[in-house]
Amino acid sequence: MARLQRKRECHVHGTRVLVYKNTSDLFKDAANELFETLRRKPDANIGLATGATFLPFYKYVSSKYKIARTSFSKANTFNLDEYVGLERSDMHSYFTYMRTNLFSKIDIDQKNANVPDGSSKDPKAEASRYESKISRLGGIDLQYLGIGQNGHIGFNEPGTPFGSKTHVVRLSASTIRQNSKYFGNGKMPRSAITMGIKTINSANKIVVIAVGKAKASIVKKALTCKPNKKIPASSLKRNANVTFMLDNKSASLLK
Ligand code: PGA
Repeated sequence: MARLQRKRECHVHGTRVLVYKNTSDLFKDAANELFETLRRKPDANIGLATGATFLPFYKYVSSKYKIARTSFSKANTFNLDEYVGLERSDMHSYFTYMRTNLFSKIDIDQKNANVPDGSSKDPKAEASRYESKISRLGGIDLQYLGIGQNGHIGFNEPGTPFGSKTHVVRLSASTIRQNSKYFGNGKMPRSAITMGIKTINSANKIVVIAVGKAKASIVKKALTCKPNKKIPASSLKRNANVTFMLDNKSASLLK
């Protein structure tokens, strides 16, 4: 019986929502979604996210993918975003985050592990190259997403057009406030390359993960407001293939 109650499923204004008692069950189910995708389609294109939310996810994926009889050897991964101006080897780059937490721990062919190159001399050209590569390889099969407290997805800040493709963005004051803690005394970059809202919503399947009380207010807004540019995550409501995976805290303001 306890197993049956580990999560509850509901629809909020038409969007599928799963609410978990324990975050360990949430990350297990989120990882199983990835393992099933790879079993069904070994050369799948997987869209990946960074941030504090995804650390337990990558820990689970890297420790369990072999037991789950899956392999990344034919898969491609595409990360959502990267800071402009950081070398890949910079300890604060998302490339380093991914190498540390996932890429160095799985059997992916490293050349198939894609992160926008924030050190490119021409970030705009890099953004178009990245978008072209995603479409050349057939688009994203399964996209993982976090959500910022201002409603951003990837680094698509409030005001980003829903039709946007991978582009260069100036980070909002809210994002700079939230992420500058990771940069210590160093100044954090003010711009980034991010997959666009259209790029994200073109994925065959999208899993949004939000945990903790700090996300409760934006989760409620994103799920209940009309789709509008002020809340980029509200664009997901138009997409029937989206599931929000929440813990009790991030879901606490949903009825
Ligand atoms: P977080 O970031 O996981 O560190 O909260 C999520 C996001 O900004 O998309």
